Amino acid sequence: MKFKYLMLGLACVALSCTKTSEIDRKVDDLLSRMTLEEKIGQMNQLDYGSVNDGLIAAGKVGSVLNCVDAQKVNAMQKVAVEQSRLGIPLLVARDVIHGFHTIFPIPLGQAATFDPALVEQGARIAAVEASSYGVRWTFSPMLDIARDARWGRIAEGSGEDPYLTCLMGQAMVRGYQGDDLSKPNTMAACAKHFVGYGASEGGRDYNTANIPERVLRNVYLPPFEAAAKSGACTFMTSFNDVNGVPSTGNRWLLDDVLRGEWGWDGMIVTDWNSAGELIAHGFASNLEHAAQLSLDAGVDMDMMAYAYISNLEKLIEKGEVKQAQIDKAVRRILKLKFELGLFDNPYVDESFAGSLDYCPEHLEAARKCAVESAVLLKNEGALPIGEGKTLLVCGPLADAPADQLGTWCFDGNPEYTLTPLQALRKYYKVLYEPMLAYSRDNNVSAFPKLRTAASKADAIVLFLGEEAILSGEAHCLADLHLQGAQSELVDYAAACGKPLVLVVMAGRPLTIEEEIGLSDATLYCFHPGTMGGQAIAELISGREVPSGKLPVCFARSAGQYPLYYNRPNTGRPNTGHELLLDQIPLNAGQTSTGCQSYYLDAGYGPLYTFGYGLSYTTFDYANVKLSKTELKPSDVLKVDFDLINTGSYDADEVPMLFVQDVTGSIVRPVKELKRFNRVHLKAGQSQHIRFELPVKELAFYGINDKFALESGEFRLWVAPDAASGEAFNFKVIK
Ligand code: NOJ
Repeated sequence: MKFKYLMLGLACVALSCTKTSEIDRKVDDLLSRMTLEEKIGQMNQLDYGSVNDGLIAAGKVGSVLNCVDAQKVNAMQKVAVEQSRLGIPLLVARDVIHGFHTIFPIPLGQAATFDPALVEQGARIAAVEASSYGVRWTFSPMLDIARDARWGRIAEGSGEDPYLTCLMGQAMVRGYQGDDLSKPNTMAACAKHFVGYGASEGGRDYNTANIPERVLRNVYLPPFEAAAKSGACTFMTSFNDVNGVPSTGNRWLLDDVLRGEWGWDGMIVTDWNSAGELIAHGFASNLEHAAQLSLDAGVDMDMMAYAYISNLEKLIEKGEVKQAQIDKAVRRILKLKFELGLFDNPYVDESFAGSLDYCPEHLEAARKCAVESAVLLKNEGALPIGEGKTLLVCGPLADAPADQLGTWCFDGNPEYTLTPLQALRKYYKVLYEPMLAYSRDNNVSAFPKLRTAASKADAIVLFLGEEAILSGEAHCLADLHLQGAQSELVDYAAACGKPLVLVVMAGRPLTIEEEIGLSDATLYCFHPGTMGGQAIAELISGREVPSGKLPVCFARSAGQYPLYYNRPNTGRPNTGHELLLDQIPLNAGQTSTGCQSYYLDAGYGPLYTFGYGLSYTTFDYANVKLSKTELKPSDVLKVDFDLINTGSYDADEVPMLFVQDVTGSIVRPVKELKRFNRVHLKAGQSQHIRFELPVKELAFYGINDKFALESGEFRLWVAPDAASGEAFNFKVIK
């Protein structure tokens, strides 16, 4: 039997090698027939609004972004295939970030599911929908670690943790690319933004990032390495500079690390005009110089800077760049087009385009994802609310079909959105008083009506948060309180004397400690997409049980950022005895607060830590056992435990394994996530669970900048979040 599988495996490897070498042969053949001008044309990516048939026929464009109309895609391809000299098809790209037409929760919400299989399914669905219109390349996944919620693009990634981001990124790559890229329903993935974009100083977009190489290697690079190793076809350079070098001109990053150390040989594209922006950075003196720096760094395709198309020929003539550099880049571009099957079938079936959009299967996956992504932050018995009761529904996000879709969804049609208001009406008698028209609305004139309306209701459900436009690219905030008069609305609602449930829909963690304090329950939903309203209504009624976990710490105050659980210890670790502003006596002495590392007004830690999230049921973690307490580098540590659903609801829980390397050649994080698992347990049911952790996964870049395992003491926790659980010790010996 084993032999049979071995032979089958070998046959598959042989088949894919044959396919690869066949493609290589085709690429070589085509390349040998191309003029320099045609080669440079392949390296040029233009927006649909900037292309015309003349440019395509002349072979001056290799890829077009932002065309999502099957007929128009086919028309462009017809020109490319029939009128350009060599008939090379175009590669059509789009930002399909969290769904194409059926919109899933924003990536930060998807990360809150801690459910890579579901995220993979979402990406698969996005590929099926988008590819039916001819989009075969998406600029996703975004793998930027984000530890500062002021940065609007925190919405687009998987949060603060490298391990979670690795798994979510790999899941998306698998989903988009499928098991055979040449099938017409796949999209090439693009790991972006390479690298350090999420570390932009002060959480201000496009800003400079200063990241020591060790931190880069231990924190920011691993998700990209994981994507490269799992076959992501393309990478995108980031806008920012890291330690003074803009990524688009960073040869060390692109050539030494990505292509050299990781052995990845895919295609690298710039971000929009980021080659041109090398001039504004003060890194290139003009566009010709920018083209040279980008090519030298290893960039294959120029998105919208016209740097390559207008300068590479000149640079060749001058001997500043070599023909071989251009050949390498074009080889990668053509290879991808062959792998996608574009030469065999450049056209889409126009009659099939969109036929699966919003189909029941896609909507159900989006609903499930929205359910699993919602995080219950507080519940003092207010949730769930029995069906049939009367709810007073208020707030600017209760019926905001476009805003609940979140950032980066050009293609989601709000007409298909199920809002909470619509969905709640299926299960409750609903009184609806929006009170505020949109999240920044300061018009409080309707507020006095609230008390009378509340007197007719069993509970108030307030839908608060951010409009979609307040997060995402170029939408950073210095202040993370609720916008407009939303906080005042909470004050009014809390004074009505009815159970008060807050549902927040936002693109980032907001600082809402006071509002949560006034509520009886708070459910946090990162913009939840097309089916968000249905998911929320089912969670409120108890048809579904909350199970989302925070992929980022929630701060009390924006002044705490950057904030993340896997921080290094200081020489003054937290003692839990912080003396806050109002506790400090008048005329207290200089050292009266204990000289500890904390803010006098916000304390030490976050309001809610990484992994936090409540349920309607309760779980116990028991009988934690380590297979060994002294391990060699080649060992696999097995951690066994029992997970028990001790409450009265069937529900999912996400147990997590955290590890701390107690002493290292450099200061190590206080905890690091190493494993997690989503488990469904019936009320009263218990399950035996095992995490397996190869000891070699404890290696890191230490004092000599070498990736190595260091022996010594370790601690581990099996816990529902980064702040709970009992510590167990083990040792690594060499
Ligand atoms: C700029 C953004 O930074 C990037 O994420 C996106 O993919 C490109 N524009 C293309 O739209």
